[in-house]
Amino acid sequence: MARILRTRTIAFCAVLIVLLYHFLPSENAPSLLPQADTVSRAGTQILAQYMNNANAIPHIVATKSSFLWNTVKFTYPPELTPKLPPPVSNRPRIQHDFGRESYSVTAVQERRREEVKRVFEKSWASYKKHAWMKDALKPLSGQYVDQFSGWAATLVDSLDTLWMMGMRRDFYEAVAAVATIDFGKSTSGSVNMFETCIRYLGGLIAAYDLSGHEALKAKAVEVGDLLYAGFNTENRMPVDFIAFEDAKAGGGLYVEDTVVSASPGTITLEFSRLSQITGDSKYYAAVSHVMDTFSENQNKTKLPGMWPMHVSMRRKDVVSGYQFTIGGNADSMYEYLPKAHALLGSASPSSAKYAIMSRTFMDTSMNNLFFRPMVPGNEDILISGNCDVIDYEGTPTPRLDPESEHLSCFIGGLFALGGRLFENEAYLQTGAKLARGCIYAYKSFPTGIMPERYNMMLCPDIKNCKWDEEQWVSERAKRKEWVEHLPKGFTTAKDPRYILRPEAIESVFVLWRITGRDEFREAAWDMFQAVANATDTPFANAAVSDVTVVGSQQQDYMESFWMAETLKYFYLVFADPELISLDEFVLNTEAHPFRLPKA
Ligand SMILES: *[C@@H]1O[C@H](CO)[C@@H](O)[C@H](O)[C@H]1NC(C)=O
Ligand SMILES: *[C@@H]1O[C@H](CO)[C@@H](O)[C@H](O)[C@H]1NC(C)=O
Repeated sequence: MARILRTRTIAFCAVLIVLLYHFLPSENAPSLLPQADTVSRAGTQILAQYMNNANAIPHIVATKSSFLWNTVKFTYPPELTPKLPPPVSNRPRIQHDFGRESYSVTAVQERRREEVKRVFEKSWASYKKHAWMKDALKPLSGQYVDQFSGWAATLVDSLDTLWMMGMRRDFYEAVAAVATIDFGKSTSGSVNMFETCIRYLGGLIAAYDLSGHEALKAKAVEVGDLLYAGFNTENRMPVDFIAFEDAKAGGGLYVEDTVVSASPGTITLEFSRLSQITGDSKYYAAVSHVMDTFSENQNKTKLPGMWPMHVSMRRKDVVSGYQFTIGGNADSMYEYLPKAHALLGSASPSSAKYAIMSRTFMDTSMNNLFFRPMVPGNEDILISGNCDVIDYEGTPTPRLDPESEHLSCFIGGLFALGGRLFENEAYLQTGAKLARGCIYAYKSFPTGIMPERYNMMLCPDIKNCKWDEEQWVSERAKRKEWVEHLPKGFTTAKDPRYILRPEAIESVFVLWRITGRDEFREAAWDMFQAVANATDTPFANAAVSDVTVVGSQQQDYMESFWMAETLKYFYLVFADPELISLDEFVLNTEAHPFRLPKA
């Protein structure tokens, strides 16, 4: 408890000091600081006055962390080449040509956009009141939890959403608080590379890219250097968890034997953009070597074109495993390949690999992981399953398992993006069918929300698929997770929760921006109403235990991605399509937009 008050006071003092400095000529202003409660009120009032000048940018200076990560003496200094490629000169157009439509946002869409904002404002107000500077708010009890090293994950993750929703006062208040975060101390002895990269570094970079505020850049560099210390290893491959104090000492870190592929595979965008922003190629070089390991081995795996879910960066073994998925554990490694291509282009030898890796994995997953489910209306949709490659009499044989999960729903949007980037109509059509698969799953359940993990029935013939009710009844009966009330076509809801995840609306958003088809905006509205309804709590929004029944219990859990991703995507669907245009930004896996540099 003492710690919350202290951090809150420091944060508000920072705002106040900075603002008083501007308003009063006296250098003694800080000594006049009142107690915590009045600080917050006074700070807000002054900020309000300040923000009446629409274009004013508050002068906020980042406080240096108690340990400076750029001073680590590396036992194994990473290579400093290749150098960052120059900006891309000609990208294909990504977004649908909305023409004048984009400026005639209708009253209906405006009401929807306002409604999404209202839900965000409620969550944000509760975070501010009950969990300020903590990693996450607990939406039923009004308590908080620090699960990501205690650097205010929700605050950093929400910065760019505040900006997009036009909440500038809240944005700068948040920037002033972020400017005081101490990345030299952690609430956990080991820091998760992946989460720190996508939420903190990604959040800071995007907020900087949108606002241009130097305090955010300074903090992004601190986190970037912290993560860079995770490359201080014998083989220059990154660790999965950074032993915090050992990393400071610089003696070298131990690379774990087995990790999920998403972990080393989801650093490319953040590190490449950080190099672009700072002009220092070292981040780009470090991550380029990691991706070389994946690139060189892409066609040597048991399912050539994709990598197994588990890899060993210690042994640089990304070929041995036999389980393949674009879902959880692997997902964002694949996501970052087309996106790295969008950010970096293919003109230089070190970045050309991203286009090749993208197209190769897209072709392989289309042929081996995606399936048409058998459903009563015979809708032409696709679902992404899993593929195990088992040795069968000496021959590796891929076997498609028609199990899917909410996490896999990002793939429709990614294929649509790939369709535009590589000017490939088949990828785009596949992306649309995958997005429609997730929309279908949402609307099948009585709550209007799809479960975290489920099985559907595979169509034996993708071209000619006819509903067979008897087959469904018998397939369902074979499953031990059999539940009588499941919608037709579904054979399990193995994990019936909804934990406020964004992937389905993410794909719907991308398909809307790329095709301009109203079906996607309408689907988004149905999804939003269902989600807002089932997850609403007195404080904010909570995970729900079972989407297969109406009125299910909620869980005291609200991940930072609710405000960072889910609500942001809902908002952007109903906003002017020029807000965060996909021709100007590429979004990281936590929905943080990075500006695409143009030549
Ligand atoms: C892997 O195979 C694909 C398809 O045959 C090919 O286009 C690609 O260049 C190969 N990748 C490497 C690194 O050899
Ligand atoms: C939730 O849905 C029910 C039934 O459709 C509706 O009556 C209620 O107003 C909704 N609640 C919210 C918070 O949207």
